[in-house]
Amino acid sequence: VTKILVETQTVRLELPPGGLKLSNEETLAEIDVAYETYGQLDIDGKNAIFVCHALTGDAHAAFYQDDKDKKPGWWDTLIGPGKAIDTDRYYVVCSNILGGCKGTTGPASINPATGRPYGIKFPLITVEDSVQVEKLLLDTLGVAELYAIIGGSLGGMRALQWCVSYPDYVRRCICVASAVNLSPQALAFDIIARQEIECDPNWKQGKFYEDNPEHMNGLVRARQIGHVTYLSAASMAAKFGREIREKPMPGEQSKFSTSFQVESYLNYQGQKFVERFDANSYLYISRMMDMFDLEADYGSLREAFKHTQTKFLVVSISTDWLFPSVQQLEIVSILLSLRKHVSYFMLDSPYGHDAFLMESDTLQRGIESFLSGETPSQPADTLDHQDLELISEMLEDDMHVLDVGSGDGSLILALQEARNISGVCLDLDFDKVETCMRRGLSVIQLDADTGLSLIEDNAFDCVLLNQTIQQLHSALQTIKQLLRISDTGIVSFPNFAYYGYRLSLAFKGRLPVSKVLPFAWYDTPNIHLVTVRDFRDLCKQHDIHIAQMEYESVSLTGRLMLSLGLPNLGAERSLAKITRNHKTPTE
Ligand code: COA
Repeated sequence: VTKILVETQTVRLELPPGGLKLSNEETLAEIDVAYETYGQLDIDGKNAIFVCHALTGDAHAAFYQDDKDKKPGWWDTLIGPGKAIDTDRYYVVCSNILGGCKGTTGPASINPATGRPYGIKFPLITVEDSVQVEKLLLDTLGVAELYAIIGGSLGGMRALQWCVSYPDYVRRCICVASAVNLSPQALAFDIIARQEIECDPNWKQGKFYEDNPEHMNGLVRARQIGHVTYLSAASMAAKFGREIREKPMPGEQSKFSTSFQVESYLNYQGQKFVERFDANSYLYISRMMDMFDLEADYGSLREAFKHTQTKFLVVSISTDWLFPSVQQLEIVSILLSLRKHVSYFMLDSPYGHDAFLMESDTLQRGIESFLSGETPSQPADTLDHQDLELISEMLEDDMHVLDVGSGDGSLILALQEARNISGVCLDLDFDKVETCMRRGLSVIQLDADTGLSLIEDNAFDCVLLNQTIQQLHSALQTIKQLLRISDTGIVSFPNFAYYGYRLSLAFKGRLPVSKVLPFAWYDTPNIHLVTVRDFRDLCKQHDIHIAQMEYESVSLTGRLMLSLGLPNLGAERSLAKITRNHKTPTE
């Protein structure tokens, strides 16, 4: 395989007279930024994707810097020709963060005022400052707007800050395993890690550059602490178990060191890190991450995100305890309540927080489909047109609608066309989520039984439960949630009291299989059999108002029964418009 080569470049930014003013009112007179680019910028400057690295990453995100390199850049699994971030299509830029030690101005850089390294005289910096510097870089490169921004962990925080700082500039944002602020648990690990550096006698209050010390034990410890938080219990068990090495590692002189593989791994990773990273940069950047707080900085998340025009994709990792999924769902929830375009999925991986850096088919598919997602002019042909007409009649134009159990998004697409609604899909199946994203739809991967609880009150004008309710474990709870997040719901379900089904059971002694109920008893997703009468009773008992009820039957006899006013016998399917308020008289 031919290696594609790339070179890290450095540019001195053009700053306003007096230098760049930072959030803490201090200024930086000179700023160099190290960056790499992959692919070509379009003539209109609108096909750029900016990649934000995490805490200890750098500008080398993809390709090889030298033919002899064993490993490519840190996100080469995602970036390249024909990959999820396709360099045949996009102009991809990644730069080293402000305060870093891989070419961008940071504490090891020479302070023009003194001619010596800044050390800890370097000003305290924020994520907002780093984003300001990155914007100046993109201006220099001629990027007119960002097709997308993407990052994991601290990179995800930077991506979010970009959307808040430049709400009209960023078209799409992919935020992986990240948060609007760090949890106290995550802060705790960072605090201990920084204290380890500060307690190291070789650190010398940040003035260690002239000595160039070989042993920066504080930084080794800091990395080891961090590294444990990036793994999961399962991945550590699988990787190391309680396996014992035969020979001690060189340098293992302590009476109390063990021969466990995990100890040798941590020693190896700590040592490798200290050879490539600057202790002061670690202090500055990890503090920058700790202080990031969109909620505190803008008064509320609602305020922070209110102006953004960006389409978001938020991704969680199932085993990430450093940035648990509740933090990503907080972002999703606020964006949904602001009626922004947001998609969400969970990467099911054993690798903990680090999973975003590992090869993953799901992550690649998710990112690729979100980036290439476009609304097709015609919805797919998988829809029952009778259903569509009935649902469409029950809606009003321009409503904001959630489709629970949305499948491939065909219903929402058709309703967008018929009613100009703005729609959000919700489904548990990643394949469906991927299809929806590919079709340009906003889609949330959640279990309808539990997931609705994360959505804020009145986030939608209407919620659809189209042929889904009979598949839920807690149908009543879901209906109650539905009428919390919206004052109207449309619930359609197969009527198990339909005369044809009764006959099948009575005379054949078999559970019915039909077009409406296509599953055999052993593989049916339908776990709660419901009839028209049952549904009405449930609504009555729980003070749920039925504003309109429609019935469908394909058989002649069924239709005859419906015309005789016998819906419980004649309807194969039923469609109910329910409301929490008695807005319209009952049928
Ligand atoms: N003893 C000593 N060394 C060991 C070992 C053991 N028991 N087990 C593995 N190693 C060494 C391997 O020889 C290999 O060395 P190399 O990098 O010089 O080739 C290295 O450890 C492999 O690391 P490992 O973690 O096993 O690789 P991975 O493929 O599972 O994970 C990364 C890749 C990049 C995710 C991971 O190495 C890493 O760096 N994680 C931290 C990333 C980070 O900074 N995250 C921050 C998010 S904010």
